[in-house]
Amino acid sequence: MIRIFCFSGTGHSMAVAKFFSESLRTEITDISQETTIPCTKSEISIIVFPVYCGNIPKIVKSVLPKINSKYFVLIATYGRISTGNVLWESARLVKGKVIAAEYVPTGHTYLEEPAEFDDEILKPVLKMIKQPKEIVVKKEIKGILPFIFPNLRSRLGVKINRTSDCNKCALCERSCPMQAISGDKISKRCIRCLRCVKSCPRNALKVTYNPLLKKYIEKYISQK
Ligand SMILES: Cc1cc2nc3c(=O)[nH]c(=O)nc-3n(C[C@H](O)[C@H](O)[C@H](O)COP(=O)(O)O)c2cc1C
Ligand code: SF4
Ligand code: SF4
Repeated sequence: MIRIFCFSGTGHSMAVAKFFSESLRTEITDISQETTIPCTKSEISIIVFPVYCGNIPKIVKSVLPKINSKYFVLIATYGRISTGNVLWESARLVKGKVIAAEYVPTGHTYLEEPAEFDDEILKPVLKMIKQPKEIVVKKEIKGILPFIFPNLRSRLGVKINRTSDCNKCALCERSCPMQAISGDKISKRCIRCLRCVKSCPRNALKVTYNPLLKKYIEKYISQK
């Protein structure tokens, strides 16, 4: 049996998970604080998640060791800036053999780019799934930045404010993978994934970016 697990803030990783879902005719399990990880063992588990500040998102880090599977396929989407050493780190967390590991460049969450990617990158992965064979995931140079208070940097760089258009439907609260919203408050658990912003039917959550962060992202991407 093949299972697909995905954590996605604004849909980029979900678009990649859907590629696998359609190619392999398998449903996707959404990763959040409330996800129940099946205890039965699967043959292959495909895990799709974004790179956050050069790291594995907290929520994914806590789920990876709980997934019961013989083989693993690890897919990390990233906004064309840096990947850290996320695939190697996630390969060390899973309890099973890694048969494929790939970074997929996508749009960047904070540039509000569409959830598009080049699926050519994933075609060899589909072949590897058909004939599972353990691979060695290469260790990469991570740099210093991912170690410097990544979550705090995101919270300082990105602010989310509720406007008077809010009708208190609580949809954002229910969609938050970190259970970080309670009434009008967003707690420190927030990882700035912006899923709440995307899920609000009234567009009542407004995001403001620290100009330095926005400039850094735009400059970095335009140089590539
Ligand atoms: C909190 C946060 C941190 C991010 N850090 C990085 C990063 O270190 N390097 C990078 O290239 N992109 C980074 N991005 C961009 C995302 O990795 C990229 O847009 C990803 O495809 C988002 O997937 P999602 O929409 O499924 O959450 C970051 C995005 C967020 C929200
Ligand atoms: S989803 Fe939007 S309208 Fe509903 S409570 Fe959240 S901010 Fe308010
Ligand atoms: S409150 Fe934070 S963690 Fe929760 S959905 Fe919104 S941005 Fe993501």
